[in-house]
Amino acid sequence: MNEAKLHDFMGRLVTDMGGAALMANVVIGEELGFYKAMVDGRPVSSEELAEKTGCQPRLVREWLNANAAAGYVELDDGKFRLPEEQAMALAIEDSPVYVAGGASVLSALFLDKDKVVSAMRGNGALAWGEHHPCMFSGTERFFRPGYRAHLVSEWLPSLNGVVEKLESGAKVADVGCGHGASTVIMAQAFPNSRFFGFDYHAPSIETARKRADDGGVSDRVAFEQARAKEFSGSDFDLVCFFDCLHDMGDPVGAARHAYDALKPDGTVLLVEPFAGDRIEDNLNPVGRLFYAASTCICTPNSLSQEVGLGLGAQAGEARLRDVFMQSGFANFRRATETPFNLILEASK
Ligand SMILES: C[S@@+](CC[C@H](N)C(=O)[O-])C[C@H]1O[C@@H](n2cnc3c(N)ncnc32)[C@H](O)[C@@H]1O
Repeated sequence: MNEAKLHDFMGRLVTDMGGAALMANVVIGEELGFYKAMVDGRPVSSEELAEKTGCQPRLVREWLNANAAAGYVELDDGKFRLPEEQAMALAIEDSPVYVAGGASVLSALFLDKDKVVSAMRGNGALAWGEHHPCMFSGTERFFRPGYRAHLVSEWLPSLNGVVEKLESGAKVADVGCGHGASTVIMAQAFPNSRFFGFDYHAPSIETARKRADDGGVSDRVAFEQARAKEFSGSDFDLVCFFDCLHDMGDPVGAARHAYDALKPDGTVLLVEPFAGDRIEDNLNPVGRLFYAASTCICTPNSLSQEVGLGLGAQAGEARLRDVFMQSGFANFRRATETPFNLILEASK
C-alpha cells in the first residue's frame, strides 16, 4: 500500500463529504434567503443576517462559518461578506450561472435513496414521478439559467434556418418539457410562433401551464400530458428534446415519432448533457456530476419504461446519432456546445 496515495485519497474524500454536507447548507440558505440578503456584498455579522432574515442567530452563525470554510463567503474583520462572483452563482436568480436553486435536486438524491436501493436490488426501475417533489422544481431551477443564457442567443441560431421560421411563425413541440422552462423562454422570444409542450408527468404539466400564465404567453403555448412516442399534432417545424431523451425508455421510438410529426424540412433540436463517447472522456467533474445523478434519476427512469434502453446521462454524441439514424433521420450534427450541454441537430 502506498501511504501517500492513501493520504491523497482521504483528502479527496473529506473534500467530497464536506461538499455534500455543504450542499445541504446551500439548499437551506437558498430557501431562507441568506445569500440574497447578502447580495449587496457588504459585510454582515451573524446577528445582522439573523435579524434581516428572521432566523435563529446561533444557527445562522454556524451556517456562515460553514460557508466561510468553503470559501462561499469571506471573513472580513469578524463579519462575513458574499463576493460578487459567489453572488452570481448563489444569490442572483437571473444570472446565467445561478446554481443555488438547482441544488435542491441533490436533496432529492438523498430523500429518495431507499427507492434507488430497491431499484438496484430489483429490476432497476424508478419512474420520474416517484421522486420527491423537490426533484421537479430543482430540475427546473437547475436547467433554466442555462436555457435563459444560451437557448435564444446561441442554440437556436446554431440550427439551419430555424430562427427565420420562428420569427415568421413556426409550430414547435417541446417534448419532455417538465415545468416548461424552455417552452416559455422560446414563446417569449418568438411571439409569431406556436408552442406545444408535452410531458408524461401530469403534475409537471400543471406547473408548466402556470408558468405560461405567469410568463404572459399562455395565448401561444399549450401544454398536454403525453408520452414522447404518442404526442398529438403534425407538421411541426421544430421538435425539441431538452435534457430528456436519455431519460426515456425508448428514445428510438420517441425520435421516430418526432420524425413522423415533423414537416419534410423540419428540424429536431436535441439538447443533452455534455459527454464524450467513451467513459475515459467523461472522468472529470462534469462527468462525475452527471453519472452520479444518472445512477439515481435518469437511468432508473429509462428502465421503468418500455424498451428500457438506459442510455444514461453521459450517452455521448455517437450513441445519440445512432438513435436518430435508427429512427430514419438522414442528417445529424453537433450544432454547438457548452461545458454542460451538447446541442445536436437532426433533419430528414
Ligand atoms: C430531466 S427532466 C427535463 C425536463 C425539461 N425538459 C427541462 O429541461 O427542464 C426529464 C423530463 O422527461 C420527462 N419524461 C421522461 N420520460 C418521458 C416519456 N417517455 N415521455 C414524455 N416525457 C418523459 C420527465 O417527466 C421529465 O419531466
